[in-house]
Amino acid sequence: MAAKPRVLVTRRWPEAVETKMSEVFDLQLNQADKPLGIAEFRDAFQGFDAVLPTVTDKLPAEAFGDGRARVKILANYGVGFSHIDTSAAKERGILVTNTPDVLSECTADIAMTLMLMAARRAGEGERELRAGRWTGWRPTHLIGTKVSGASLGIIGFGRIGQAMAQRAHHGFGMKILVQNRSAIAPEVLARYNATQVGSIEELLPQCDFVSLHCPGGAANRHLINAQRLDLMRPGAYLINTARGEVVDEQALARALWYGTIGGAGLDVFEREPQIPTELMNADNLVMLPHLGSATRETREAMGFRVFENLRDYFEGRAPRDRVA
Ligand code: DGY
Repeated sequence: MAAKPRVLVTRRWPEAVETKMSEVFDLQLNQADKPLGIAEFRDAFQGFDAVLPTVTDKLPAEAFGDGRARVKILANYGVGFSHIDTSAAKERGILVTNTPDVLSECTADIAMTLMLMAARRAGEGERELRAGRWTGWRPTHLIGTKVSGASLGIIGFGRIGQAMAQRAHHGFGMKILVQNRSAIAPEVLARYNATQVGSIEELLPQCDFVSLHCPGGAANRHLINAQRLDLMRPGAYLINTARGEVVDEQALARALWYGTIGGAGLDVFEREPQIPTELMNADNLVMLPHLGSATRETREAMGFRVFENLRDYFEGRAPRDRVA
């Protein structure tokens, strides 16, 4: 590498990664650690060789600015990249990479956490106890739903969906049904004794729990809508650790309010960090603030994966995680 490429890191990252990156790149950190706006991105696209966005950076076409950009690569810190207009990037010859694999286990852990918390009413119990409302053990107190041996529908059977199946089938003896846009190899399904069904409509009425692991973006916006919520079993639970826009939040709030489903667990929301009041008021809903990949090990691994993608690109090799 000749001159160090100028690299903008849009949010603060784990220290070990920032240190490593600054040895190789001319790094600019966003000390305020607040999401950047469109105008700041338009400037950044002219002033930097690489921009490293996160899920909080919305990058529609207008953020890329007019004409030729200096930026050559958007190395996203995260696996989901529906916040980036990849067609706009492609038109300008800008590469986009992400960070797959390294966060699959931890994201599946959070999906399991939400499933268990929702089914066993753990959020409600904690709120009651902390508010001093617990009056002691009784046989009918906060009765939940048994997870072990129940059926789990997984929508989207990529790395995270499979990590979820691993936990649910091998840890909890759950019966796994899968819906995925392409056919899953029989040997992969066999690992979890899973059955692939042809459609979401076929999957929903057969499941006690449904967990979403598909990509976000326009194509999957409100994939789970009022009609599909109506197809879920009475008493079933919906878990979303994918992207907020995959679920119609108002339709979900109604299903929770009227009790047409048993409950839900959400780690992601359509307009983060805003949460609709209707969800805030739903007692049979567990919510977490987008914690899927939030472990020390994973956030560092994500950063080092971005580092490898950048280094490969600037040393003339194809970055392994190119998505556009
Ligand atoms: C991901 O990697 O997509 C996480 O949701 C954080 O962006």
